[in-house]
Amino acid sequence: GRPLRVALLGCGTVGSEVARLLGEQAAELAARAGTPVELAGIAVRRPDKHPELPPGLLTEDAAGLVVRDDVDVVVELVGGIEPVRGWLLAALNAGKSVVTANKALLAEHSAQLFEAADAAGADLYFEAAVAGAIPLLRPLRESLAGDRITRVMGIVNGTTNYILSAMDATGAGYAETLDEASRLGYAEADPTADVDGYDAASKAAILASLAFHTRVTASEVHREGIGAVTASDLVAARVLGRTVKLLAICERVIDDDGAESVSARVHPVMIPRGHQLAGVGGAFNAVYVEADAAGELMFYGQGAGGSPTASAVLGDLVAVARNRVAGGRGPRESAHAALPVRPMGQT
Ligand code: NDP
Ligand code: HSE
Repeated sequence: GRPLRVALLGCGTVGSEVARLLGEQAAELAARAGTPVELAGIAVRRPDKHPELPPGLLTEDAAGLVVRDDVDVVVELVGGIEPVRGWLLAALNAGKSVVTANKALLAEHSAQLFEAADAAGADLYFEAAVAGAIPLLRPLRESLAGDRITRVMGIVNGTTNYILSAMDATGAGYAETLDEASRLGYAEADPTADVDGYDAASKAAILASLAFHTRVTASEVHREGIGAVTASDLVAARVLGRTVKLLAICERVIDDDGAESVSARVHPVMIPRGHQLAGVGGAFNAVYVEADAAGELMFYGQGAGGSPTASAVLGDLVAVARNRVAGGRGPRESAHAALPVRPMGQT
């Protein structure tokens, strides 16, 4: 069939791995997708800094690229809310599908983006936005759509897990460990998003929205980062047979009078060293999902980094290609419950 033509926005830690895999695995991807998947253009901020990329594909003009006639799908790996929101809305309004890893944007504007996707009959996929390589959003959206999820809880930020694990194992200083996490491509462009818990709060908002079929935004998530966790806290935790992890906890809450609401929070937790989450090291993530019929499920894998995140992006691209070959689109948003979000401290 006609190739699926991809506009790649951003070619940094994640985007460069997506471009590499699209080239190296072209034949296999075409076979799995049912159609070749080709790069139509790559938008970056500074094209002169990318001698490794074909000059004919490079542009600074992301806004122009996303609406070009020869583009079928936009893969957004730039990050941040503006101007990306405008580009993606323009793309969806022009009938292009969108694949993005941008949790900050989704956690605030998913309603607007889903609306545009639905109106255009386009796909909007974002598996890479939460927990890197781990297949987690598709299971919540699709595999568990027949069950009633009651809780989603776990480690969803690789940078802070890398820092806490290193502090725990070696007593290493906070600043040097954060630098290392940035060098390895785990941290956000502004790493305070990781350290202060904003990134995990965005992910908690996305997880709660999908798990409970409602809309939770990042600003509704109670948030505490790891800024106040010191090396001596980790030593004290060790003495108690514990360690410290930054957890995201999303729960369906039912009052005595039967009224339902959602609680979503991110904060450091002292957990027993024997707990499975205590053994999650480096930039790995681990998420427990509890559902009425399924019981407890655990999802584990690399939660950050260029190549693991690119795996999730490529999976979404194959899904878009397959939907197009089949003449349809993927699942629509299922927000319908409009559950209130419970402020912290309220019981
Ligand atoms: P990087 O900072 O490494 O890359 C960002 C890219 O965007 C660069 O290529 C940059 O261009 C380009 N860019 C920035 N501004 C513009 C602009 N105005 N127009 C065109 N291009 C622009 O980021 P990451 O790859 O780490 O992250 C990208 C996204 O993926 C973010 O949303 C992040 O939250 C998300 N993500 C990242 C993960 C990770 O482990 N790194 C994991 C999961 C999600 P130039 O190269 O010229 O500077
Ligand atoms: N900065 C994020 C993290 C990238 O450390 O988890 C993955 O979303």
